[in-house]
Amino acid sequence: MNNSDDFISTVSHELRTPLTSIRGFAQTMLGSWDKLDDDSKKKFLKIIEQQSNRLINLVENILSVTKLSDENIVLKSVDINNAILPVIQMVSQQYKTHKFETELNKNIPCAAVDIDKFQQIMTNLTENAAKYSDEGKTVTVSTSFSDNSDYISVKVKDQGIGIDQKDAKKIFTKFSRLDNPLTRKTQGSGLGLYITKTLTEKMNGKISFTSDKNGTVFEVLLPIYNAGERVKCSVTS
Ligand SMILES: Nc1ncnc2c1ncn2[C@@H]1O[C@H](COP(=O)(O)OP(=O)(O)OP(=O)(O)O)[C@@H](O)[C@H]1O
Ligand SMILES: [Mg+2]
Repeated sequence: MNNSDDFISTVSHELRTPLTSIRGFAQTMLGSWDKLDDDSKKKFLKIIEQQSNRLINLVENILSVTKLSDENIVLKSVDINNAILPVIQMVSQQYKTHKFETELNKNIPCAAVDIDKFQQIMTNLTENAAKYSDEGKTVTVSTSFSDNSDYISVKVKDQGIGIDQKDAKKIFTKFSRLDNPLTRKTQGSGLGLYITKTLTEKMNGKISFTSDKNGTVFEVLLPIYNAGERVKCSVTS
């Protein structure tokens, strides 16, 4: 089996699981409508809604993966702090259960990135930080730069369950989800970090993480040089 057969068979399996569940609960409701009380009906509809959301997320991520091979990355000079703020705004609306903080260093230079792809990276990392930590915990996004470096550092820190070093490679591969209670409780296709790493590297950046019992920190390094030239911030960025 080649890589694309492999991909298709995994995708088919991932699509079939929520679809089978949606059909099963719809059939149960239709077949036993009069016997079911309102609470059960509500519970079944909730599952149908959750599984539909899971399918939508999966299809969006699969589309992102198939587009990854296209050369559609446009590197421009970007004020990284400005680009982060709308992402935090959006994700914090979605995860009202968590606190979001920023520690953005105002004195960092601009980076050479594709702003849409950078925001996709930040969405994946901040969503993960919230998904894999308990309610009430804090997610902190920080930026920094040291004078002798060629990269800006963006960190997403959580107070979550952590990632074992033995899984360091696995989490960045397609369709990989770790086996722990929070991963089982949350929905996901296991494609987010694969997309994140691929996009980061396509922009000549780097991604890594450290993790311990207090939580996990993902670090993305973004280059301040494009084709050998240091990028200049445009006034409007
Ligand atoms: N910040 C984190 N803390 C602990 N575990 C994490 C963290 N981020 C990712 N993981 C683990 O790595 C796995 C892969 O993450 P990834 O973002 O690729 O997929 P996902 O979140 O399961 O699904 P999606 O494709 O919707 O992002 C997760 O399922 C989770 O088990
Ligand atoms: Mg994810």
